[in-house]
Amino acid sequence: IPVDPFDLVIFGASGDLAQRKILPSLYHRMIAGQMPREARIFGAARSKMSRSEFQDYVADALRKFAPESAKDEESLKAFLDCLDYVAIDATGEGGWSDLKAKIEDGANPVRAFYMSVAPSLFGAISERLSQTGIATEDSRIVVEKPLGHDLESARALNAQLSASFDESQIYRIDHYLGKETVQNLMALRFANALFEPLWNAQHIDHVQITVAESIGVAGRGGYYDKSGAMRDMVQNHIMQLLCLTAMEPPSRFDPDSVRDEKLKVIRALDPVELKDTVRGQYRAGNGEASYKEHAENPDSKTESFVALKVGISNWRWTGTPFYLRTGKRLRARMSEIEVQFKEPPHNIFRGSERVPGNALVIRLQPNEGITMLMTIKEPGQGGMRLRRVPLDMSFAQTLDIDTSEMADAYERLIMDVIRGDQTLFMRGDEVEAAWAWTDPILQAWAESSASPEPYDAGGSGPDGALALMHMDGRKWREIEA
Ligand code: BG6
Repeated sequence: IPVDPFDLVIFGASGDLAQRKILPSLYHRMIAGQMPREARIFGAARSKMSRSEFQDYVADALRKFAPESAKDEESLKAFLDCLDYVAIDATGEGGWSDLKAKIEDGANPVRAFYMSVAPSLFGAISERLSQTGIATEDSRIVVEKPLGHDLESARALNAQLSASFDESQIYRIDHYLGKETVQNLMALRFANALFEPLWNAQHIDHVQITVAESIGVAGRGGYYDKSGAMRDMVQNHIMQLLCLTAMEPPSRFDPDSVRDEKLKVIRALDPVELKDTVRGQYRAGNGEASYKEHAENPDSKTESFVALKVGISNWRWTGTPFYLRTGKRLRARMSEIEVQFKEPPHNIFRGSERVPGNALVIRLQPNEGITMLMTIKEPGQGGMRLRRVPLDMSFAQTLDIDTSEMADAYERLIMDVIRGDQTLFMRGDEVEAAWAWTDPILQAWAESSASPEPYDAGGSGPDGALALMHMDGRKWREIEA
């Protein structure tokens, strides 16, 4: 179903995110018939460029980042026809009246402004958008991480945005929420009555969440070295996965019902003790340089890997630890949530070993799917020998679809902005609560003299992370593609 005709202004249109994600996503939605052809997309950036120069520039980006679809000359032309460009001085006066004139020269019902710029410019741009009247009361503003580097800066950013816009106009992107399987997590939990009665500390031994990446930070070491895995992945993406796994069923699938429940989870997170944290930094290996070389900082103490044991103090979860880990340069790119159920309370099969608990594995990427680990009798005459086997559901096979063709997270999220649906976007208080929990961990690391533990590229992270679970008699799942 096509969305309403819209005007979208992309500030920072010549930047990396716009080229790689925003513009290709819009283009794909146009090909899919969802973006109406009356839509207008304005690039806004500092450099002087004519409309046709911008169109050429976008055509190049699409040929590079959406190569297959960009071969269709007709669609490409239709998309380029939607584009216009305004040179703008984000902090000064230049270009604003030009932008206003262009926008007001149309009658598209939806206006959205995508801030694909450094967060230090969010305030200035918001202020000008509202002062000039370019943004109206129902315009939407889209921002994305880094939304602060600690609680204080996150509060300051929220304050700058809300000086010009109402919370209902602000769309904070966490692209993990746009992933198909992440939304499926909600379908799995709340559209299947089977799990919910068991979804608590009485029946669940622990939950583990892994977001492993095989790539390193080459090329973006400058940003990453000031951030580290905790700020880059845990405070946002992993936090969202944790919330969706742990939250109470919202009464409705609407923005505030869902976000209220997520917020309650974040507020119920226990402070994490230093002993329940592991930081790692990758060594050189497999033909690539070390983290320190990529970051061009020989003394760097920034973590490219983190593992945490986290408790949630509420009625549902007290007693069930959540283990979280994420890292760069690991064996494979793999994101998974494993819900490990408790062992059966009593083993009737004398002579057999322990009866393992069931586990539900939600595979976010790649090979999206859900696996239930079940215990069965091993076939044959060898007596009652038990074995845990996967009951596997790969989305690609079951639904007979090519999952690589599924709409990218950004495609869905940008269309949600146009539809005015904030369900998959973070609310300001949620972001602040996540920082309030993250800050003391970062602070404890900063105060400790310890350095992150080196780990080999292509492995499963530092030994400390294995020990974190081992000490509790538990084990991480293998990292494999
Ligand atoms: C980004 C991080 O937000 O998410 C990157 O800044 C990380 O460091 C990326 O690589 C991971 O996203 P995805 O969609 O590839 O899992």
